Amino acid sequence: MATPIPLRPTEGAAESPAEARIPRHVGVIMDGNGRWAERRGEPRTAGHKEGATAVTRTVRACRERGVEVLTLYAFSAQNWARPQPEVAALMQLLYDYVLGERDEIMGTGIRLRAIGDVEQLPAFVKGPLRALEAESRGNGGMILALALSYGAREELVRSARRLAERVARGELDPADIDEAALGGGLDTAGWPDPDLVIRTGGEARLSNFLLWQAAYAELYFTPVPWPEFTPHDLDAAFAWYADRQRRFGLTGRQVEARMERASC
Ligand code: IPE
Ligand code: IPE
Ligand code: MG
Repeated sequence: MATPIPLRPTEGAAESPAEARIPRHVGVIMDGNGRWAERRGEPRTAGHKEGATAVTRTVRACRERGVEVLTLYAFSAQNWARPQPEVAALMQLLYDYVLGERDEIMGTGIRLRAIGDVEQLPAFVKGPLRALEAESRGNGGMILALALSYGAREELVRSARRLAERVARGELDPADIDEAALGGGLDTAGWPDPDLVIRTGGEARLSNFLLWQAAYAELYFTPVPWPEFTPHDLDAAFAWYADRQRRFGLTGRQVEARMERASC
């Protein structure tokens, strides 16, 4: 038998229509920096630098629109294989970002979190990053998750391995391994799944981003390169999202009936 899907509070008619249409968790695959710069005859790193300004304005816009979790794919587990100078420039930009955004993050109550294999980051980045994570832990506002040295397959492997270790120690019965157990071992444990994943830069693929969590995310692909992404583009993505009927396997009529019941 199908398990009933709980109606999220934001899907209920008790919420104002505007609130109901804002995705709770937005994931962004910030792509297209290198090509943007190359088209302008500049080094790829110029695209990453400009991309950092798009991060600042997008974080602000998401917070202002009431997004609860914003996950930015900033550096993948596979990106380590890029030319060393490009990796070094990205690490420097990350350091600059953490230092430069500290006051805005603390001033606006953002909770900064890093997901991925953060231990791989160089110490000069990891230190300030961990410090700001700790400092912002008590904040009550939007969660800003930076996916760094992140790969969804790697994350799933880590979760599966931890479960296997508990089984080996006799603490866990394999029969008790369910979605909650596997999902609970992911870096995003406790957060709502992404409702909307935006990818800039024109490619239509996930590139190892939140593969488990995005099972029912709406996927929005835009040709706009990340350095040019503006709050206006974000609003276009949100407007597109607001028009989607999320069915989670049900029929459209079933979903409509549930919405009607919820509004009674
Ligand atoms: C995204 O832009 C940033 C990172 C992956 C770190 P790219 O650097 O992938 O830019 P393109 O896709 O080559 O244009
Ligand atoms: C995905 O972009 C990773 C980030 C945006 C950080 P990539 O540019 O690495 O993805 P592919 O290689 O085009 O799939
Ligand atoms: Mg790319």
